[in-house]
Amino acid sequence: MSLTVRSERPWWRDAVTYQIYIRSFADSNGDGKGDVEGIRSRLPYLKTLGVDALWITPWYPSPQMDHGYDVADYMDIEPDYGTLDEAKRLIDEAHALGIKFIIDIVPNHSSDKHKWFQEALKAAPGSPERERYVFRDGKGKDGELPPNNWQAIFGGPAWERITEADGTLGQWYLHLFAVEQPDFNWDNPVVREHFEEVLHFWLKLGVDGFRIDVAHGMIKEPGLPDELKGADLLTAQKSPYFDQEGVHEIYRAWRKIFDSYPGNRMGVAEAWVSKESLPKYIRPDELANSFNFHFLDSKWDVKELKKNIKESFELLTTTGAPASWVLENHDVTRSVNRFDQGLKGGGVDSPLKRFGDTSKFDIKRGTKRARAASLLMLALPGGAYIYQGEELALPEATGIPKDRLTDPRWKLSGYTDPGRDGCRVPLPWKADVAGSYGFSGNPKLGDSDSWLPQPKHWGTLAVELQEKDPESTLNLYRAALDIRHKEAGLGDGTMEWIEAGKDVLAFTRPGGFACYVNFGKAISVPAGEILLASNPIQSDVLETDTAIWIRTK
Ligand code: GLC
Repeated sequence: MSLTVRSERPWWRDAVTYQIYIRSFADSNGDGKGDVEGIRSRLPYLKTLGVDALWITPWYPSPQMDHGYDVADYMDIEPDYGTLDEAKRLIDEAHALGIKFIIDIVPNHSSDKHKWFQEALKAAPGSPERERYVFRDGKGKDGELPPNNWQAIFGGPAWERITEADGTLGQWYLHLFAVEQPDFNWDNPVVREHFEEVLHFWLKLGVDGFRIDVAHGMIKEPGLPDELKGADLLTAQKSPYFDQEGVHEIYRAWRKIFDSYPGNRMGVAEAWVSKESLPKYIRPDELANSFNFHFLDSKWDVKELKKNIKESFELLTTTGAPASWVLENHDVTRSVNRFDQGLKGGGVDSPLKRFGDTSKFDIKRGTKRARAASLLMLALPGGAYIYQGEELALPEATGIPKDRLTDPRWKLSGYTDPGRDGCRVPLPWKADVAGSYGFSGNPKLGDSDSWLPQPKHWGTLAVELQEKDPESTLNLYRAALDIRHKEAGLGDGTMEWIEAGKDVLAFTRPGGFACYVNFGKAISVPAGEILLASNPIQSDVLETDTAIWIRTK
């Protein structure tokens, strides 16, 4: 298979994948929560935008303690979101438009309402029911202390003590995330078999791939030893519960399953691991993509971005896999705010690190930088993932009233970290507030009636307005994705850095294409034909915080 011709290589080497946070995308039945039919009604929008694939966040039955990342049944659809028939129709209609379809799979933990966990609670210590999860006796005289010192990612201890069926205080179970998200025991073949069955179920229904939640989790170090230091996810530091060698065996088994179906089915890893570890997840017999969170974690800083792009690209591609660039998702502060406020994307645990100094937030400057970053990302070799609303340059909603915050992080951090709700606010489709700015099919809903309230200025960012404005971010994305499809040298392939001064990040792609991003004082527009610029170009000047795509020959 030739890797130089796009039409001949697997789609996931080049794809721009659009992440749909289902609860906040489009609400067809008017209950203030997004749903499957809402997505279906917006397929024409996604087609016009020009994305190649969709990734839908968990749509399974779930008590929604972590908005679907607490799954109660892996082979059905959350009734609030729709039915399996509707899901099937959505997959088929996306395919009919030439759009691939990826779903989220959550193998590290289930909901505590999952049938298996309920059975485990009722069963005795050491029983097969308990063995599907990670139950241990506590330490101390009466087992009153947790089995080890691990802390949950959302805050507090990673262990919860249960009351046994006879009413006495009993064993503890592991939950690396919320208390309601017990970790599966992946040393148990029954768990492995169950997830393989889940993969077959959805592959048969037609999905093209899986975004694997906490892909660096699942396998824990034997003996569950204390950890020496809290997890710092993006460094090379070893953790007894993340990035263990054993996870790769799981992906090698999954890859065989993907390859047993036609059409280049795939997996993409959500692995918050070091630059050195990341390539392991995308070895030829493992997954296809792994989000490059080192790119997402970069501040708006020419040196930092260049270093992270260079190092991660070089390491990632040692395996022959493509890089997967990402700037936003449902877990991190919107890039408009991050890039304005000098914030990093990962490792966030306080309002200041999450939002910066909101009194100094300059939305114009943040938007300008986010737009430039988009052109940078879409010109880099490999695929890219964009998060709903990124194409509208939505800023973070930093003013959600405290009594409306729903992210489990808010409570588990002892009410110190507002959590991730600010990037999960329902999309504004219409300028008028009716139907929560067109998000909902119920015109009676206003800006505070959907599951998360929308900021007062949301309507000014609406799809409806941006469609009519030739200089809107939406139209910038449409143009960029259109060019990306037509340029044979974009997508997967090689890049060459250009030396263009200390404040300019610049590189070429095959076929006479160049991308320049100016972080410093205004410079003259580089020679060539302008294909696209993140900001209007006047008098041949490339302003600060602007990216430009050039035809060099
Ligand atoms: C992943 C998801 C995040 C979720 C967590 C626990 O990091 O992206 O939203 O809370 O896993 O499932």
